[in-house]
Order: sequence, then C-alpha cells, then structure tokens
Amino acid sequence: MQLPQAYIDALIALHRGLKRQGPGDDGFTERLLADLPPLPARPKIADIGCGAGAGALLLARHYRATVRAVDFAADFVEQMMREAARQGLADYIEPIVGDMGQLDWPPGSIDLLWSEGAAYNITFAGALRAWRPLLAANGVAVISEMNHFRDPPAPVVRDYMAEAYPGIQTEAANVERINASGFAVTALRRLPAACWWDNYYEPLQANMAALAHSPDAVMQAVIADTAAEMQFFGDHHRDYGYTYYVMTAA
Ligand SMILES: C[S@@+](CC[C@H](N)C(=O)[O-])C[C@H]1O[C@@H](n2cnc3c(N)ncnc32)[C@H](O)[C@@H]1O
Repeated sequence: MQLPQAYIDALIALHRGLKRQGPGDDGFTERLLADLPPLPARPKIADIGCGAGAGALLLARHYRATVRAVDFAADFVEQMMREAARQGLADYIEPIVGDMGQLDWPPGSIDLLWSEGAAYNITFAGALRAWRPLLAANGVAVISEMNHFRDPPAPVVRDYMAEAYPGIQTEAANVERINASGFAVTALRRLPAACWWDNYYEPLQANMAALAHSPDAVMQAVIADTAAEMQFFGDHHRDYGYTYYVMTAA
C-alpha cells in the first residue's frame, strides 16, 4: 500500500531527532556482529534504509570502514551526517539520498549488507531480489523483518496485520523465501520486545507529546495511528516482532 506523501512527511517529522526510526538496539547489534561469518578486515558496507544512521554509525565505529548509507528521507540523512561529524565518523559515512529499490551499484560490490526495519518498504521479497546482486561472493547480509512468532497466528493478530502489514509471514516462511532468493540463511536473531520500547517507542512518545497540539490534521492522524500501533504491540508482543536474518550468498 502506497502511503500519501502528506502522511509520509508527517511520519518523517514525527521521527525527526530520534536516534532510531524503528526498533533496534546497539548491544543486540554488537552481539550479532560478533557472531557473523568471516568478513574482510575492512569490509565494504551498506546500510540500506539507514534512517538517521543508528546502524551505519555503529558499523562505521565497529569496522572503521566506509559505510554507504542510503535513505530517501533527506532529513534523516542530514541528521545522520551531523551525528557522524559529532562522533568523528563523517569520513566513514557515504550519505546517499535515494531509493533502496533502485540502487545502481556494481554487482558484488558489498561485503556486509545491513538493513534494519526497512526492507518491507519495497516488500521483503522485492528487497531480497533487488539486493542479492550487490553482495560479494563471500559477503554477508543482515536484514531485519517483522514476522509472526506463532504459526498459525492468533486470529486477532492475523486480522490486525491484514491492515497493518499484509506482507507479514512466519519466520519459517521467510527462511524459505530467503533461501529461494540466492541467499542462504545462517542464523536468526529475534529482537527482544524491550528494545522496541527502550530505544524506539519511548523516545517516539516524547515526540508525540511535543506535537500533541499540532494544528496539522495529518500529523494528528499519524500520532493516533502510532499510539494505536504501540498499544497493539504492548498487548501482543509475544505474537510478532523483528527477526534479524543473517545470510550469505548461496
Ligand atoms: C523504520 S525506518 C528504519 C530506519 C533505520 N534503519 C533504523 O533502524 O533506525 C525505515 C526507513 O526506510 C526509509 N525508506 C522507506 N522507503 C524507502 C525507499 N524506497 N528508499 C529508501 N529509503 C526508504 C524511511 O525513510 C526510513 O528511514
């Protein structure tokens, strides 16, 4: 479903200034990186759908290597570069304002392809298709995707997702999809629900409070939808969430 531009603009405004634009956690990422299949000492890295760069900055710091960081929201990319400068990492980040589905990078040019909470924008299957050619022969991709944790899903969650995210699948179905897309899954890691609240929803609630009296009707709709999303996650976080899929080129 394509969201109206005014809704996307309000979403971007609501997320402005936040470290993360979606669920994630630095400690979780560090533990995941510690277990990755071997990579070159200075891997060529991409963070696709980087938002304000939570992943890109961590990866740059961790590997001391250049990260191509792409997002179509110029606001987030600018915020990332201000933070990169503050952390002394600006030389490691190659900022790109662009469409993650139209990356014209040379085939096989990325050793570590990272994408957190973003692939669904071009459908998970579409992301796998678009990004597989970018991965080097011995490369590693880490892509997070929201999935059902129960099979079959509880009816209340299935009905909610039919509206909220019709493309959602179980982890088993996503593993099948990945393995049929020229990748091979080597590990799955579920992001704990607490990371949604501590690093994403609670900071976002502060922005919602700051914009609570906005005269913009679209902003009011975005705030109401976001509050409903949080409420639903609070009630059903055992039923669905983000899984980070670690994969190599098959
Ligand atoms: C949920 S946010 C996650 C951002 C970041 N990875 C994080 O974890 O904080 C999804 C991001 O995808 C970006 N995005 C959505 N559609 C896109 C597209 N077609 N091309 C590039 N970026 C896109 C949004 O602007 C947003 O920053």
